[in-house]
Amino acid sequence: MANRLLITGGAGFIGSHTCVVLLEQGYELVVLDSFDNSSPVASERVRELSGSQALHVLKGDIRNAETVNQAFRCRGPIDGVIHFAGLKAVGESVANPLLYWDVNLNGSRVLAAAMEQRSCRTLVFSSTATVYGEPEQFPLREDSPTAPIHPYAQTKVAVEQMLQALCRQKNWRVASLRYFNPVGAHPSGRIGEDPLGIPNNLFPFITQVAAGRRSHLRIFGSDYPTPDGTGIRDYLHVMDLAEAHSATISHLLKQDPCTHLTLNIGTGRGLSVLEVVRGFEQATGLTIPFEVVERRPGDVPRLEACPDQAEMTLGWRAKHSLLEMCRDGWTWQQANPTGYRSAA
Ligand code: NAD
Ligand code: UFG
Repeated sequence: MANRLLITGGAGFIGSHTCVVLLEQGYELVVLDSFDNSSPVASERVRELSGSQALHVLKGDIRNAETVNQAFRCRGPIDGVIHFAGLKAVGESVANPLLYWDVNLNGSRVLAAAMEQRSCRTLVFSSTATVYGEPEQFPLREDSPTAPIHPYAQTKVAVEQMLQALCRQKNWRVASLRYFNPVGAHPSGRIGEDPLGIPNNLFPFITQVAAGRRSHLRIFGSDYPTPDGTGIRDYLHVMDLAEAHSATISHLLKQDPCTHLTLNIGTGRGLSVLEVVRGFEQATGLTIPFEVVERRPGDVPRLEACPDQAEMTLGWRAKHSLLEMCRDGWTWQQANPTGYRSAA
């Protein structure tokens, strides 16, 4: 019988791409999403892309215990949970820390309590490379010290610690995946990243400049201690990240109780902002006008993963190139100039 999974935040950017991969592999999915930062249209397109109807969508907030219980009751026993739901904007977390502690930590606690009540003790958690703060040694390994420098990353470290305790004391099986910078879109262009308002992140900003929605890119700082002076990140294709989730849940479901994995999910190859701009121009044949402005507060010079542990544990490694990330992100942008809001 197919495994049934609960996917919190399953209508979001990473969640929707992961749902396609899991449905194609025969899982039955219950998505719980408040749609605070996503659209139900994403889940409709996930059904269309996967050709599977085994996707059940509930609108609700993970902080509400009754809503979470309803998600567990709606189809029958849940074998495991992938927990994407949360807030992710660094600047917003500085401006409104209580909201971040509430949604990210308290939301995770409510979810974990409902799981414990049902003896559903297998969980994949969305953590982040920003838990490493402003590191000096590269590439980053999972045993590199965590030193979060803003409330967003602090909430992620706290949830990782809460989950570690559940593995030790309550026989849970947990993987905390520390994502580096997921970008791109499903190659069909049917699902992708759909930021509200002005994008915070580099990739959606570049695709909106390419589409003529914004006049030019502002590069935040060219005086970092990096070869060309712009910030370095480890960008990975969102489909590679989706595959990492399916490898992780299938691995966890076979493990003994008391398993806790912490895994970096990146390519191992850092790229500067200028390299990304040039890569996008090569992939699309377009020109991206830019100006260099002041550094953005809270940005670090460099984040770059050592992805070896994920390969050793899961047999997973990122496969897609920068060219594919740019091409697929651009396909999505062109087909959906205003994201899901333009969708019929
Ligand atoms: P996203 O905003 O597209 O997806 C998050 C989803 O959670 C959205 O659909 C949103 O509506 C939902 N949600 C938010 N609050 C909720 C609540 N209280 N109850 C129920 N649903 C709620 O973001 P994403 O990029 O897909 O990120 C998914 C997860 O990965 C997040 O936890 C994020 O912190 C983490 N992460 C993202 C990145 C990145 O660069 N995108 C990097 C590292 C970690
Ligand atoms: N950048 C610009 N101009 C822009 C946007 C970004 O120059 O308009 C630069 C940034 O200064 C940085 C790089 O592009 O050097 C990447 O910035 P992003 O905003 O795309 O990504 P971040 O690394 O700042 O943060 C992202 C997510 C976090 C997540 C983190 C994991 O926003 O939620 O990746 O590494 F935790």
